[in-house]
Amino acid sequence: MTTAPLRVAVLASGRGSNLAALLQARSRGELPAEFVLVGSDKADAGALTLAREAGIPTAVLDPRRFPDRVSFDHTLFERIQESGAELLVLAGFMRIIDGAALAPWVGRMINIHPSLLPKYRGLHTHRRALAAGDLEHGASVHYVTAELDGGPVIAQARLAITPQDDEQTLAARLLGYEHRLLPAVVSYIAQGRLALRDGQVLLDGRPLATPLQWRDGALDR
Ligand code: GRF
Repeated sequence: MTTAPLRVAVLASGRGSNLAALLQARSRGELPAEFVLVGSDKADAGALTLAREAGIPTAVLDPRRFPDRVSFDHTLFERIQESGAELLVLAGFMRIIDGAALAPWVGRMINIHPSLLPKYRGLHTHRRALAAGDLEHGASVHYVTAELDGGPVIAQARLAITPQDDEQTLAARLLGYEHRLLPAVVSYIAQGRLALRDGQVLLDGRPLATPLQWRDGALDR
């Protein structure tokens, strides 16, 4: 039986390396997804260039042209709705989204965050992990809720912090893991294996007690 590819929209503010990883996974045949829209709040985002090169429709909205956050988010989510997306992926989208705008998308919207949530919500996660003397660091993919970086975590990738690490080396090494973690989670969603119900992540219909872990090149319970 073949099912239709999952229609995915991506929001990104920056270089778009996570978007690139998703597109590469699709090209390799590892991601049954169709990218219907890449949206950004930054006209010069690398993610937009990648999207154009890949022939994906783009939407650029300049926040300065809107009177407030609510009207920006309302317009942005109208565009996403019109794209026919079934899943919305935040891949380096550097804006806090209005709770009312995102409410209809809870359970259909994920974010990748460079920390082992619930540790280090917000910015400067690598610096904070180093300053705390942590022995490990990681990335999390979570369902988005109105609480910033606070939605139920689906999956994580971990790496050991070495004495030689600084903020740049740690960020660079972690990014390599992000590029494998995010496509793996989107692939699970495309296969219908993940859901959010009553604030609880379900895998294959069963509650996930702890986030899936990226181990030996695959997601593991
Ligand atoms: C990544 O580190 C991601 O975890 C965070 O923002 C960064 C985006 O990088 N949310 P890129 O634009 O995908 O290269």
